[in-house]
Amino acid sequence: MSKKIGYAVVGLGVGKNHAKAAHASKNADLVAVCDLLQDRLDAVKEFAPDVLTYTDFDEMLKNEDIDIISIALPSAMHAEFAVKAMEAGKNVLVEKPIDITVEAAQKIEEARVRTGKKAGVIHQNRNNANMKPIYDAVWGGKIGKVILGDFAVKWHRTQEYYDNGGWRGTWGMDGGGSLMNQAVHTVDLMQWLMGDVESVTSHMGIYNHDIETEDLTMSIVKFKSGAVANFISSTCIYKPQTGTAIRIYGSNGSIEADSDKLQTWKFMDASETEEAEMLEKYAGNGAAVANDPTLCMGHTSMVENMISAVMNDTDPQILPLEAIKSVRIVNSIYESARTGKTIVF
Ligand SMILES: NC(=O)c1ccc[n+]([C@@H]2O[C@H](COP(=O)([O-])OP(=O)(O)OC[C@H]3O[C@@H](n4cnc5c(N)ncnc54)[C@H](O)[C@@H]3O)[C@@H](O)[C@H]2O)c1
Repeated sequence: MSKKIGYAVVGLGVGKNHAKAAHASKNADLVAVCDLLQDRLDAVKEFAPDVLTYTDFDEMLKNEDIDIISIALPSAMHAEFAVKAMEAGKNVLVEKPIDITVEAAQKIEEARVRTGKKAGVIHQNRNNANMKPIYDAVWGGKIGKVILGDFAVKWHRTQEYYDNGGWRGTWGMDGGGSLMNQAVHTVDLMQWLMGDVESVTSHMGIYNHDIETEDLTMSIVKFKSGAVANFISSTCIYKPQTGTAIRIYGSNGSIEADSDKLQTWKFMDASETEEAEMLEKYAGNGAAVANDPTLCMGHTSMVENMISAVMNDTDPQILPLEAIKSVRIVNSIYESARTGKTIVF
């Protein structure tokens, strides 16, 4: 039997989900975890008693049983730690956003090429069950010519959320607010579903938190295809059970979804029963995460994909160059909002 993949995680906030997924994988052993906080290390020991715990990342890098490290640190630390890990011979799975600037993110890509190690990036919402039929309807042509997109991440985060952890809602470590942290998932889905962006024209502001960054952005996005979309992000909107609006309208039909739930599936050439069948099949699990960040799930498929990539010498699902696209869009939205100008890509 071939050796199991040795897995490690640095940063045990959402990184605990990575550790759980690796521990549960039949193809991996959760070898080690690293965090500065003892209670977070202890919490992993509760479900993985044999795991080695480190408070010093450089010490963990010396462990030769580790093949993959999930980098789940505050966003501005991703490139530094991912590059160091690849240079130490480890493969990396990096949390979203890949880092907070295009330049930092490119360092991950450069290290991937230079070291020959694998680098994957987490954007787990692409694996929501309803995304495949939406993607296929758009790129397979069922929707016709794509005309309009309507994307909104109207979420809620308390002031306490920003106060705990210190780095959230800061330009230096979070790279932004509602857009860079929460809505970057949906920026990724938007560009994945609608294609390359041509320009953004944006507004942003701080509406209901005592933070440095924005807590609301609004943008008009133009795509190279000629299609247009509006994009809203906010952490001010208290509306339990409402998540993420993903709406795409084409010359032959309309698709509307909320997180992992399909809401509208209307096509000019569809049978009478098609929409009902699709809505039943993709009814989703609701949008609890919109109001409670601790409910973020969906990492298992991406951790399994990374383990499989290392076992079978294939590419991880989302490579750095793909993940850089959403960071470029987010930073262009900020630049447009700051300057009052349309930013052309
Ligand atoms: N994919 C998702 O749905 C999702 C959800 C939440 C967060 N994230 C991303 O994950 C990353 C972490 O976010 P979080 O909410 O878990 O943050 P967090 O602050 O809860 O956790 C970060 C952890 O990193 C540890 N840490 C900081 N510096 C360290 C160092 N030098 N060595 C070892 N450990 C160190 C901290 O002690 C802390 O426990 C961010 O980039 C965030 O955007 C992704």
